Amino acid sequence: MFALQALKIALSVLLLALLSACGEGPQGAPPAEAASRVLQPADPELAQVYQRSCASCHTVAATGAPLTGDAAAWAPRLDKGMDTLVDNVVNGFGGMPPFGLCMDCDAAQFEALTGFMATGQ
Ligand code: HEC
Repeated sequence: MFALQALKIALSVLLLALLSACGEGPQGAPPAEAASRVLQPADPELAQVYQRSCASCHTVAATGAPLTGDAAAWAPRLDKGMDTLVDNVVNGFGGMPPFGLCMDCDAAQFEALTGFMATGQ
């Protein structure tokens, strides 16, 4: 009898721990997402391209894309060098489709868009 009660208590403690762990999970993402969504490239033409392609993933944490303006997420990417990054956009990389869904973008635009997303300006 005592053993059963101890087991019940242990189980409810475990459940509580699991529940509170769940509660903490999603809280990290929204502020970074919200911050990424207010950022826009200064150049109006680039801003238009950004809005219709890159922004649909790079402002949504669930896509796995490094968020715009999230310097910590971009630092290890920038370490690869800009030429590699632009190649990876053109060819597609992980969850990112080729050309980052901007079929009419050129390499200079990919570089400018990547620089903008990495720094937020
Ligand atoms: C359909 C979603 C999607 C779109 C649209 C998209 N990306 Fe991405 N991007 C991703 C994901 C996901 C990653 C992370 C891939 C990984 O690390 O596995 C990524 C990573 C990157 C990287 C880092 C690549 C590396 O080598 O680490 C660059 C640069 C990049 N994106 C640029 C862009 C640009 C520029 C655009 C717009 C022209 C764009 N992306 C549009 C989803 C997207």
